[in-house]
Amino acid sequence: MSKKVNLIGRWSEEKLGLLEEYLRAYVTIMNKQKQRWLRAYHYIDAFAGSGRPKAKDEERYVAGSPLRALRCEPHFDVYWFIELSPWRIESLQELQAQFPDREVRIRQGDCNTILRQEVISQVTYASRQRGLVFLDPYGLQVEWATVRALARAKTFDIFVNFPLMAVTRLLKRDEPPKGKVKDRLNKVMGNIEWVGRIYRPPEQLSLFGERLMVRDVMRAEWLARIYADQIGTLFSFVSKPVIMVNSKNVPLYALFLASHNKTAVKIMNYIFEKYERLREVGR
Ligand SMILES: C[S@@+](CC[C@H](N)C(=O)[O-])C[C@H]1O[C@@H](n2cnc3c(N)ncnc32)[C@H](O)[C@@H]1O
Repeated sequence: MSKKVNLIGRWSEEKLGLLEEYLRAYVTIMNKQKQRWLRAYHYIDAFAGSGRPKAKDEERYVAGSPLRALRCEPHFDVYWFIELSPWRIESLQELQAQFPDREVRIRQGDCNTILRQEVISQVTYASRQRGLVFLDPYGLQVEWATVRALARAKTFDIFVNFPLMAVTRLLKRDEPPKGKVKDRLNKVMGNIEWVGRIYRPPEQLSLFGERLMVRDVMRAEWLARIYADQIGTLFSFVSKPVIMVNSKNVPLYALFLASHNKTAVKIMNYIFEKYERLREVGR
């Protein structure tokens, strides 16, 4: 048994709670469709993790996203757990052993490659299959080309945890991104035009007379909206993003759902609004 663990904070548990609530709604709806036209529905965890993270401030394990999906009833027909790191793969195999009656496909490697080369070609529209993909990276690992390929397949909903902090870290205060940084942002966001809107020439020269660019105060909602709008060019419906913050109220990620199905997004918006109301009360 792997001795390593991931430590996660309160906001990650809240994210997992939101995912689980949506998964329960998803399986209920898809199971009904199975009595009509649908052949199979898949859960694809593209950044699966270890399956059993530990709470940061307490001695307790938390159910990670793969376990939450496995616990859903009615259950998914197929589960894909994709993960880069070997020890987490080992931990996922231990989890798989606890659910011998489920079809679990564990893949080690970069999820962009595995999604584009394997998963998308198996969950096809013509074969009447559908899937929910959870994109939960630490940083800027989800390539725009992958999101585009998932959208074009017309069979997937994507539940995205978009790393706001990782993007803002690349945006310097005094000059717009260039070269490799610009390429990286473009590879993830699929568009770089918005960068031109957040930098402006200084109204005055500084004390030393440099002509530096000045970055406007960057609001998390604004950045989340840019990415959500961008995804909206590929998917027919995108939920309202929810900004996840750490214990100091610093925005870290934006969560949202993109789908070709209106009802899916309506359900997600309902879950998010309920969460935001409760969060307000708790503050
Ligand atoms: C935020 S964690 C996932 C947590 C998990 N979804 C959960 O909620 O329990 C991100 C994971 O992605 C893995 N990872 C990083 N880059 C990856 C890539 N390119 N493809 C697949 N997995 C990757 C990391 O090893 C890490 O376990």
